[in-house]
Amino acid sequence: MPGVIVLDHPLVQHKLTLLRRKDTSTAAFRQLARELSMLMAYELTRGLPLHTVTIETPLETTEAPLLAGKKLCLVSILRAGNGMLDGMLDLLPSARVGHIGLYRDPATLQPVQYYLKMPEDVAERFCIVLDPMLATGGSIAAAISRLKQADVMQLCVACLLAAPEGVAHLSEAHPDVPIYAAGLDRELDSHGYIRPGLGDAGDRLYGTK
Ligand code: PRP
Ligand code: URA
Repeated sequence: MPGVIVLDHPLVQHKLTLLRRKDTSTAAFRQLARELSMLMAYELTRGLPLHTVTIETPLETTEAPLLAGKKLCLVSILRAGNGMLDGMLDLLPSARVGHIGLYRDPATLQPVQYYLKMPEDVAERFCIVLDPMLATGGSIAAAISRLKQADVMQLCVACLLAAPEGVAHLSEAHPDVPIYAAGLDRELDSHGYIRPGLGDAGDRLYGTK
């Protein structure tokens, strides 16, 4: 589907299948979300710029590449976004972290913001927005609008599962923001749940249902 980059790596697909299973325990779900997020971090940082520095190895002086340019900021959409944070930080330990609290009103499916804390210099950073579920797309679209209000110029989205409806909504609202997903599912049901999906990501991560 245009507008979304689905990670077709066999490890990603294998772990996503384990994550979906209804009998996967809370502990295993958390661990799988972490591992999937780490694999996603590897893929979506593929385009980061490098510059050359001079270093001393134990044997000689040489030129070698290091990451250059903008620093990263991971933006977690509370609460389920936190389930992707540790895996991303495993690979990107110096990244700054912002949090935006959004819940989806169960009746209207509209996102409601209840918290926001970003690094002061967020506008200078490449922001990766984390939310395991891109369903209607309302939550992620609202988070991106909020970041754009803060003058963030470079953004991408990482989610574990996307629905075609959410991809279409987000691509229309923010066509400049690339979307990376571990899986693209069939559809949304009448309650706004992704089918076949994995259920409620927040409840599965934190064992609240
Ligand atoms: C879930 C999920 C997304 C949102 C997706 O959060 O983590 O943020 O729903 O739906 P949308 O694409 O239709 O906006 P939820 O509202 O359940 O809150 P939680 O993370 O606190 O559980
Ligand atoms: N939020 C979830 O946690 N799961 C869905 O399937 C849709 C929205």
